[in-house]
Amino acid sequence: MSSLQGKVAVVTGAGQGIGAATAIRLAAGGAKVAVVELKEEFGHNTVQAIRAAGGEAIAIGCNVTNGTEVEQAVTHTIERFGRLDILVNNAGVIRDNLLFKMSEDDWDTVMDVHLKGSFLFSRAAQKHMVRQRYGKIVNTSSTSALGNRGQANYSAAKAGLQGFTKTLAIELGPFNINVNAVAPGFIVTAMTKETSERMGVDFEERQRAAAEQIPLRRVGQPEDVANVIAFLASDEASYVSGQVIYVSGGRR
Ligand SMILES: NC(=O)c1ccc[n+]([C@@H]2O[C@H](COP(=O)([O-])OP(=O)(O)OC[C@H]3O[C@@H](n4cnc5c(N)ncnc54)[C@H](O)[C@@H]3O)[C@@H](O)[C@H]2O)c1
Repeated sequence: MSSLQGKVAVVTGAGQGIGAATAIRLAAGGAKVAVVELKEEFGHNTVQAIRAAGGEAIAIGCNVTNGTEVEQAVTHTIERFGRLDILVNNAGVIRDNLLFKMSEDDWDTVMDVHLKGSFLFSRAAQKHMVRQRYGKIVNTSSTSALGNRGQANYSAAKAGLQGFTKTLAIELGPFNINVNAVAPGFIVTAMTKETSERMGVDFEERQRAAAEQIPLRRVGQPEDVANVIAFLASDEASYVSGQVIYVSGGRR
């Protein structure tokens, strides 16, 4: 039996891309999933896909930057499913620009969604995980944490999430809560398509060019990341904490 059987997961930004693939993967392993999205209806396709495969899921509308909405989303999940075992902080946005053109709003938006959103959700979830003496938190960093032109805001947020992950692992480890991060490279989603549009480069062409620079010679798919998150959320990874796992085909 999968160690995800009967577990309850919250995945933020799970209406599409990596979050949707993760919600579907966790549900396939037997977890009940709360699909958190900016608007409840954004989560409907993911919920439908999970239910069609025989799993259990609900959609919750919640802006991860709003502390009240985050508390309500966690309460709603517990009222519906009885507990909370797994939190995947995945919601994300980009506001790319070179430093000299980057607005204060571009900076604040990216910090708020990635860093503050992960902080608010982790703080709300840990109360229940500490009480249960059981929990798994997976944060979503990026290879951009190592530096990426046009992403001063995003790379700072993604590097910040690595420090956040390592600190939570220290604080929450004594309560049997594992905290890790995945750091994806080039994954084919709406987010990477948006970057191509900003660069004025054909998306298919950009994928081919990126694949040539990647040791495994292909770009990643959302499921590549979802599989690693599912492992980190499982009891097979119960002695892994405070780690950042790059899911990038071997590229730094
Ligand atoms: N695609 C990649 O190549 C890549 C690489 C490294 C890291 N990542 C990270 O993976 C995560 C998922 O990225 P993706 O490519 O699937 O992106 P995506 O744009 O396809 O999906 C992100 C989702 O987050 C939701 N979201 C945004 N702001 C929100 C908010 N304030 N509250 C609730 N939901 C919100 C969006 O509605 C969207 O559905 C992000 O954290 C991203 O930074 C992606």
